[in-house]
Amino acid sequence: MILVKDLKRYYGTGETAVKALNGVSFEINKGEFVAIMGASGSGKTTLLRILALLDDATDGMYTIRGLEVSSLPEAERSYYRLTQVGYVFQDYALINEMSAAENVYVLSMMEGKSKKESYSTALEALDKVGLKGKHDKVPGELSGGEKQRVAIARAIAKKPDIMFADEPCANLDTNNSKQVLDVFKELNEKYGQTIIMVTHEPWHVEYVNRVITLEDGTMISDENKQNSTVSPK
Ligand SMILES: Nc1ncnc2c1ncn2[C@@H]1O[C@H](COP(=O)(O)OP(=O)(O)O)[C@@H](O)[C@H]1O
Ligand SMILES: [Mg+2]
Repeated sequence: MILVKDLKRYYGTGETAVKALNGVSFEINKGEFVAIMGASGSGKTTLLRILALLDDATDGMYTIRGLEVSSLPEAERSYYRLTQVGYVFQDYALINEMSAAENVYVLSMMEGKSKKESYSTALEALDKVGLKGKHDKVPGELSGGEKQRVAIARAIAKKPDIMFADEPCANLDTNNSKQVLDVFKELNEKYGQTIIMVTHEPWHVEYVNRVITLEDGTMISDENKQNSTVSPK
């Protein structure tokens, strides 16, 4: 569903340009759970932001379901971003004054859904990430793992084609990290959710079915794991 070819992203121009991505090519099919790994500064966030349409490549090809993304008008890119892309940030990006349910349904309401429909979708999403009964808690009353699971619920409430996560466990201890990774794994296995997750923790690899490793803006390995549940495109 995703195809990138010779993708490049340079910051600045000329001799001093930072080549954050310097020619990356791969294909990701529906239903995959992919980890993007590599040292700090290797280009992971840059790649994820381009894939999620939060940034533009300097050069190269990027298609989603056969559609060339760079040629899409901004209004369509924006609509796709709002309705089809789930993005989970390292720092949760929750609104502290709002309950878990409100944090989840605020996006559905932006899509123009009614409050009632948005609320029931939010409860369903919170249920899926194991937070049933915590819908009226504000972020301050939740653990780090629970906060990140609210952020995941917000991302899945719109039933995105693809879910992106940039170091979702970076601020979490091992226990909370496991809760979050278990939720991703279940969403992938039970609901076929396609997930692309940036991480630099080697132990996270056991949760995914493919590992793409970057170094200095290029891909140095692309490893498909055995027993993966990847379905053909
Ligand atoms: N907005 C920016 N302006 C200039 N350089 C940037 C910018 N964002 C990232 N970079 C540089 O691009 C490279 C890749 O960064 P990044 O994608 O954030 O790596 P990672 O997520 O793997 O740590 C780094 O050298 C970083 O300093
Ligand atoms: Mg990063």
